[in-house]
Amino acid sequence: MAVDLLLGLQWGDEGKGKIVDVLTKDYNIIARFQGGPNAGHTLEFDGIKHVLHTIPSGIFHKDALNIVGNGVVIDPVIFKKELDQLEKFNLDIKNILYISRKAHLILPTHRLLDAASEASKGKAKIGSTLKGIGPTYMDKTGRNGIRVGDLEMKNWKDKYRALANKHVAMIDFYAAEIEYDLEELETEFFAALKVLKSLPFIDSEEFIYQAQKDGKTILAEGAQGSLLDIDFGTYPFVTSSNTTAAGACTGLGVAPNQIGEVYGIFKAYTTRVGSGPFPTELFDEDGETMGRVGNEFGATTGRSRRCGWLDLVALKYAVQVNGVTQLMMMKGDVLSGFKKLKICTAYNYQGNTITHLPYNIEEHNVSPIYTEVNGWQEDLTKMTDASQLPKGLNDYIDFLEKELEVPIKIVSVGPDRTQTIHR
Ligand code: GDP
Ligand code: IMO
Ligand code: MG
Repeated sequence: MAVDLLLGLQWGDEGKGKIVDVLTKDYNIIARFQGGPNAGHTLEFDGIKHVLHTIPSGIFHKDALNIVGNGVVIDPVIFKKELDQLEKFNLDIKNILYISRKAHLILPTHRLLDAASEASKGKAKIGSTLKGIGPTYMDKTGRNGIRVGDLEMKNWKDKYRALANKHVAMIDFYAAEIEYDLEELETEFFAALKVLKSLPFIDSEEFIYQAQKDGKTILAEGAQGSLLDIDFGTYPFVTSSNTTAAGACTGLGVAPNQIGEVYGIFKAYTTRVGSGPFPTELFDEDGETMGRVGNEFGATTGRSRRCGWLDLVALKYAVQVNGVTQLMMMKGDVLSGFKKLKICTAYNYQGNTITHLPYNIEEHNVSPIYTEVNGWQEDLTKMTDASQLPKGLNDYIDFLEKELEVPIKIVSVGPDRTQTIHR
């Protein structure tokens, strides 16, 4: 069986967690392929709201197996907290959650380095979640990282000590005012490692290969969004992994010709947390309404998300880079009540009209060109069938499908599992 992918097409927080949870009933295995605890994936069902950071969003389905892939970076301390939060659900965790031996570990000093690096950047800071993501991927590509599989090897503590010592010297180099008690952080870290070690470690590429051969259905879950991709995002205001479809191949060890459906998920408008360019950002009442109605606060950091109109230029680019085969539109309910909606269909780039995403989309280069369409007034949140969707929304969907040349198969009308309309 082919491996299907689900990934965010904007700057993250599109609603990936919700949709992975909805789709899990059709899959045997859910596998996270990149990112780490910078992600916050929200699931809502039976009146419960749950946020996952490292653990795949299929975890609440007792028949699904969840894999944390080699492309993921794991902070054992945060991971342990996530597991603690799951305790009340009485899940058979050791039988439904496996960890790739090739996944890298976020050390306490990686988190400190993240903070020191950001502090040293002043106004140019990335707006990182400060979870140690950048420094951990730097050590991965620099060939210094510590992997989950090392925990089963004899000499790993020496490796740990050498790396932590190097990090301390690097933190000093930044000369940032970072206060920390390494001993305390390490006590917490080593205690959390014991919990991590209680879960099955696997050679996930081999495991997934065999599962495929056995006819198992597999869904790869992305984190962040295409515009935060280290290569294709709005660099340097990005994360440190490949969030796009290719990242699933390297993050799980799945060959490109084994990829089946690519589900691309986007909000009916746009949001972004952290720094970086955002051409359709709103600073007016409309943006404030989106933020308030959409409850746009970061699931990991609690920061308010910046809001703006849908950017079709950027969305088209993401559809292209990922080879999206099916689209899912989230949070249409948040736009109910707007008389008119704007969709950015082109950019004015240095005085010329363009319809592709250029190298740099900062304000001094790019301003959005909008197409205005009618909105819809109806409350969508109780709707359960595509036949109930109002004309304004159907026209919005038709417009997007025509421009993007990919069908919108799911329209989400609220945060709950049940508020999902299939088309
Ligand atoms: P993820 O990182 O892509 O999993 O998304 P987040 O969980 O960070 O953010 C999405 C937020 O929107 C969460 O609070 C979800 O509960 C919520 N959400 C998801 N889909 C919908 C929807 O269709 N309508 C509304 N109103 N909220 C939604
Ligand atoms: P999910 O999976 C939204 C953003 C941060 C920052 C930049 C770099 O929930 O969609 P990092 O911590 O990776 O060094 O931060 O990327 N960012 C996200 N924004 N959703 C996410 O994940 C994000 N993960 C990182 O805000 O701008
Ligand atoms: Mg999120």
